[in-house]
Amino acid sequence: MIIAPRGTHDILPSESYRWHLIEDKIKEICLEFGYKEIRTPMFESTELFERGVGDTTDVVQKEMYTFLDKGGRSVTLRPEGTSPIVRSFVESSLYAQPQPTKLYYLYPCFRYEKPQAGRLREFHQFGVEVMGADTAAVDAEVISLAMQVFSRLNVTGIELNINSIGCPKCRAAYNEKLKAFFKPHLGELCETCRQRYEKNPLRILDCKVKSCKAIYNHAPVLLDNICEDCAAHFEQLKRYLEVMEIPYQIDATIVRGLDYYTKTVFEIISKNKGSEGTICGGGRYNGLIAEIGGPEMTGVGFAMGLERLLLVLESLDLIPENLERPDIFIANVGDQADLFVQKLVYGLRNAGISAERDYLSRSVKAQMKYANKTGAQFSAVIGDDDIVAKSVSVKNMQTGETDNVPFDHLAEFIKTNTMTR
Ligand code: HAM
Repeated sequence: MIIAPRGTHDILPSESYRWHLIEDKIKEICLEFGYKEIRTPMFESTELFERGVGDTTDVVQKEMYTFLDKGGRSVTLRPEGTSPIVRSFVESSLYAQPQPTKLYYLYPCFRYEKPQAGRLREFHQFGVEVMGADTAAVDAEVISLAMQVFSRLNVTGIELNINSIGCPKCRAAYNEKLKAFFKPHLGELCETCRQRYEKNPLRILDCKVKSCKAIYNHAPVLLDNICEDCAAHFEQLKRYLEVMEIPYQIDATIVRGLDYYTKTVFEIISKNKGSEGTICGGGRYNGLIAEIGGPEMTGVGFAMGLERLLLVLESLDLIPENLERPDIFIANVGDQADLFVQKLVYGLRNAGISAERDYLSRSVKAQMKYANKTGAQFSAVIGDDDIVAKSVSVKNMQTGETDNVPFDHLAEFIKTNTMTR
């Protein structure tokens, strides 16, 4: 037997309705906030992520699915959504349109990580990216959109943590401070961090190795070292969050695992038992568009892991029962009824009704047993007499009540009586 690759997960028919539930909610919110969907290829040239995400990050150094295609080009399954969208923004000249450009995406990403609960090698992100607007109001909008997803799904027990990691200007001076701090500890850092020390010391602050953590916990704090402009942006963001009554905490340890961030960074974490951890992360990326070859324009966005969101919903018992089921199951007795039911079911589906029938030539008893299993809300058994009478007895499967309904009125009857409409 061939099994699915480690760290991947089939979304089975019994689970897919959960995905529809959150995806539908997300699409509804994005529409209200004025975000349009974007879809980009599942793989990109490797260089995009090396430049965009940064070649000193764990994602690029350790986690990418990179391979040579048959033409000898190095391509990578996207480990995240932001760089591809910025690539598309530049390549399709979306920057030439009225700004800001507000985009959202729902798609799989791939990272070669050690699989565990909520950590997969293929996972799904919902993300948004806003390009072409520099104000803290957009940062606040993006954060409010993420928070809206949780509140619309009735999620409690989550925390919004924000920080500012400054701009290249204040970062240059801070990097020198960091280097001076780490210099006496170089021998105690892991090998990757020793390399990061030269190229990108800020990255050390995101290392997951325990011994590195023990050292960087005492490092100078970036938030205390940002320039006036970045500090003013951060203050303004806080004001916007406050007027929207969105509770937040400042967490000066957030640096994020990707290199493109400037100024605002944030994470939303779950404190709920069984689903603890970061569900959503994002921030501003003011240099990325130019880095990918576009104009000097700014961006801000976030991504949330949908598997992690579902874990949170599960831990809070917020997943409703599956309402994706037939409106009516129509059983048949005899050859004439078999043909009639084929036509009737087709007609009902054309009228927007979810109708189901038997395909295994089962006995009426077996057909009704199956109807029960499908969860159909109504059922009917059609025999020759019903065809002559041009009507059928329709049974409400939950209450057991029956109504005699003319075939001509069947679609109307179901539309007005099903619970899900
Ligand atoms: P990220 O923090 O790397 O940010 O990922 C965002 C979210 O994706 C995480 O908070 C988590 O919920 C989910 N996630 C990441 N890796 C895995 C995994 N291996 N298994 C399951 N879920 C995972 C980004 O990707 C940025 N592109 C976000 C962004 C958009 N920043 C600005 N715009």
